[in-house]
Amino acid sequence: MQYHSQALPCSIQWNDTHITILNQQELPLKTEFLELYTLEDVYDSIVTLKVRGAPAIGITAAFGTALAAVNSTTEDAESFKSEIKEAITYLAGSRPTAVNLFWALNRMEAELTASVSVNEAKTNLVHEALKIYSEDEATCRQIGEYGLSLFKTGDTIMTICNAGGIATARYGTALAPFHLAGEKDISLKVFACETRPVLQGSRLTAWELMQAGVDVTLITDNMAAHTIKTKGVNAIIVGADRIAANGDTANKIGTFGLAVLARHFNIPFYVAAPSSTFDLTLDSGLEIPIEERKEEEITHIGGTRIAPEHVGVFNPAFDITPGELITGIITEKGIIYKDFTENIQKVLFS
Ligand code: MRU
Repeated sequence: MQYHSQALPCSIQWNDTHITILNQQELPLKTEFLELYTLEDVYDSIVTLKVRGAPAIGITAAFGTALAAVNSTTEDAESFKSEIKEAITYLAGSRPTAVNLFWALNRMEAELTASVSVNEAKTNLVHEALKIYSEDEATCRQIGEYGLSLFKTGDTIMTICNAGGIATARYGTALAPFHLAGEKDISLKVFACETRPVLQGSRLTAWELMQAGVDVTLITDNMAAHTIKTKGVNAIIVGADRIAANGDTANKIGTFGLAVLARHFNIPFYVAAPSSTFDLTLDSGLEIPIEERKEEEITHIGGTRIAPEHVGVFNPAFDITPGELITGIITEKGIIYKDFTENIQKVLFS
């Protein structure tokens, strides 16, 4: 299979008057781009998963803040600052679990506070958002390098959800090693779990890796144990939405189950995430807020009801994998091994 390094479209782009995003809701049937002109457009695109994945949410919210600033007609500096702070608070309410959203908005707010005039604030906010974007590309490439060092040609690796190039500025986190392996002609085989209920695995990961020419096979989530047992899966790698100080990790629902399977089959379980995904204000995963989404995501597929009317539904979008089940956390600063409480501090801050 041939690797195509430039095959993936850019998923988020700043265009001075608007933000262009790849509409991830329409993939893989349509490769559609949307232009976001207002703060409400940006908020809606995050809530409805048109743009999704922790780093991409952070980048989009940063661009959204810059857009609010550029669109503002307020001339008085103090009124301008309160207007943009309101915009930041509004965007912060879009999704609760991925800490990259709050991390990016905090950076934007710091830039706003430090600016003296309205014009300076507008310039600085656009500059900061572009910086968040370009840093993410470099960060993901580095995660890919570290991640790839854990695998060898011929390995078979399982993943869930989409922690890929379209969920970041480029390359992705959990999928970055596969993109880099393609560039370096190292052959890896990927099993992608479809990721019920919203199917990020089948709609996005399978599409993304096929676009890039990576060898990917799709399975449903309940095939994971059988596949690991019969297909010689060597490792599991996943992304993250928030990592607590003890290594407990929030990621797409189903991740915890895969970590339990990895322990059963004695294969390594890796989390790949940038340092912006760590929330060291939280001692453990117990404190991470878990988003619960609307029941239609479970009762309907493609607009068609597949469950009885009025059935009770529980739809948590994420679960928490205890640090003790994680072999290593791959960051842009290096791979963190246990003891996580001690080594997260060492690797991230030394
Ligand atoms: O609900 P989603 O699609 O935003 O969930 C995404 C994930 O769980 C990803 O694994 C995570 O955000 C990392 S993306 C690089």
